[in-house]
Amino acid sequence: MTSTNTAFAEEVLASLATRPRSLSSKWFYDARGDKLFQDIMAMPEYYLTDCEREIYQKCGPELLKAIGDRPFDLIELGAGDGSKTQHLIDRFISYGAKFTYRPIDISANAIELLGNLVAMQWPNMPYAPLNDDYFAALDRLGKSDNGMGRLVLFPGANVGNFTQEQAADFLRHLHKFLRPGDLLLTGFDLKKNPDTILAAYNDEAGHTADFNLNLLRRINNDLGGDFNLLQWRHWESYNPLTGATRSFLVSRTDQEVTIRRLNQTFQFDAWEAISVEISQKYSKREIEALAEVSGFTHVRHFLDKREWFSDSLWRVE
Ligand code: AVI
Repeated sequence: MTSTNTAFAEEVLASLATRPRSLSSKWFYDARGDKLFQDIMAMPEYYLTDCEREIYQKCGPELLKAIGDRPFDLIELGAGDGSKTQHLIDRFISYGAKFTYRPIDISANAIELLGNLVAMQWPNMPYAPLNDDYFAALDRLGKSDNGMGRLVLFPGANVGNFTQEQAADFLRHLHKFLRPGDLLLTGFDLKKNPDTILAAYNDEAGHTADFNLNLLRRINNDLGGDFNLLQWRHWESYNPLTGATRSFLVSRTDQEVTIRRLNQTFQFDAWEAISVEISQKYSKREIEALAEVSGFTHVRHFLDKREWFSDSLWRVE
């Protein structure tokens, strides 16, 4: 097994062995999952990508002013296919900024696709990708510290795939890795009309359902599982009080699933759920409070014109 598959196997075993059952959404992104996520980003209901693209097209000059006139590392957490960041990179290059682009992504496939994009669009840009999860990648970056200033991008509302407590822990960890003057720009999906939010995760065409069910397919492919995808359904909920959008895979029947590489058989009752994803929504006030508890100074919110999404800029003092 590859080291990714070993980590995947360990996590699947630990999370299916206890009730209530859960699986981490970080495992959504194999090659098929990346493609399904691109389909989600292209669908009209999934407004998040357009909002952030709009923001990235306009915030470049202010970011460069904030980072000052010095070479810097542009570190991107969860870079994906780079489709939004390319607008920012284009702006930075046109303003003559000197930076090394260091994208981090857990998906080997996404890093490969991004490599192709960089080779085509910006062949002369200093480029150092890392294929790892956020914690391991920050560790590696910390060990090879080159003394450069850093602008860290945490785009796409990826922070929302942590609970609020996990987000604060992660951001505190990130803060320790940074130095005074470094900047963090994080994409937050804002609380809004619950219908709008729910539609983004419960689309008519079923892209989100396919994306979530792909996690079971990945267990079948990578770990020798025998999940019958037809016996599961996707279910979505949004709680306007807590801001948590949650995705579940629900068993349509009593069933037994064997995962050969784990040497385990799991029983699922009819209508038992596996929690697979949280997509946390925030208010501006909650974002500012999160900056404070994780040790950052809030600078400003960059908003799209509908005010549905914020890329919030924080500084290390
Ligand atoms: C990657 N992440 C921020 C997406 C989100 O909105 O939580 C993943 C996603 N899940 C369903 N649709 C999109």
